[in-house]
Amino acid sequence: MTGTLARVDPRPIGMFDSGFGGLTVARAVIDLLPGENLVYVGDTGRYPYGSKPLAEVRDHAREITSWLVAEHDVKLVIVACNTASAAALGELQADVDVPVVGVIEPGASSLVSATRTGRIGVIGTVGTVGSGAYQEAVAAVDATVELTCAACPGFVEFVERGDTTSDQVHVLAERLLAPLVDAKIDALLLGCTHYPFLARTISDVLGPDVVLVSSADETAFSVRAMLDASGSSRVAPLSGAPRGATHRWFSSGDVDWFRELGRRLLGPEIDTVEPVTWPASGGGDV
Ligand code: DGL
Repeated sequence: MTGTLARVDPRPIGMFDSGFGGLTVARAVIDLLPGENLVYVGDTGRYPYGSKPLAEVRDHAREITSWLVAEHDVKLVIVACNTASAAALGELQADVDVPVVGVIEPGASSLVSATRTGRIGVIGTVGTVGSGAYQEAVAAVDATVELTCAACPGFVEFVERGDTTSDQVHVLAERLLAPLVDAKIDALLLGCTHYPFLARTISDVLGPDVVLVSSADETAFSVRAMLDASGSSRVAPLSGAPRGATHRWFSSGDVDWFRELGRRLLGPEIDTVEPVTWPASGGGDV
């Protein structure tokens, strides 16, 4: 049977975000690809990315990607951050020899397939919305939809503090989401990987008729398709249940907090969190 002859590639998948947000994508990747080793970087020492100039975010993204490739020999990099995807995806893809996957295109196609009325919304950081990346990606999928975009400054900080349902975050959500309510959208893309952690609050504000779409699952499906196509999965098809995948977690900020909140947000896979500081040895600019 050809499946048993497939090449297997034990190298880990690398992924990064400014902090905890990329854990929404990590969860989807672990669930869909339980046999894959992962190295995750939460750049909590330098978060938030969303209010920084895109050029600065691009530098951070290049530094982390370079470190993942040089120090961890990753076989693929997931930019599990919309702001970094908007700022740097093209450059990262040109810079390194391994595939680099962002979250914007997978999210845009899910969003367009979720609408019935054609009135859709995207929320994201100031950097992501200002970059025009979603406006472009959605138009490339379907130019006839009516898209309303809104930046949501402040949401990321609530998540990083571990506050996803307080009255304060609810009040902020009512204010920031008002343009989406006015636009009568029926599907909203959570265009920042932190926002799925606020899904309950966002849904309370928008009501049950608005479908919330996150790019996490769609990104995991894209990664699986790429690994399958290049024959570089860790576990050969038909070889049975994968065993012993290793997940490594790095934070450039407070590692104890990353472990505590990370376990609450992602689950028990976050057992140990290792420190990383920039510039990291062995990385450097690509
Ligand atoms: N989670 C990130 C994103 O998807 C960045 C949030 C931030 O650091 O501002 O854009």
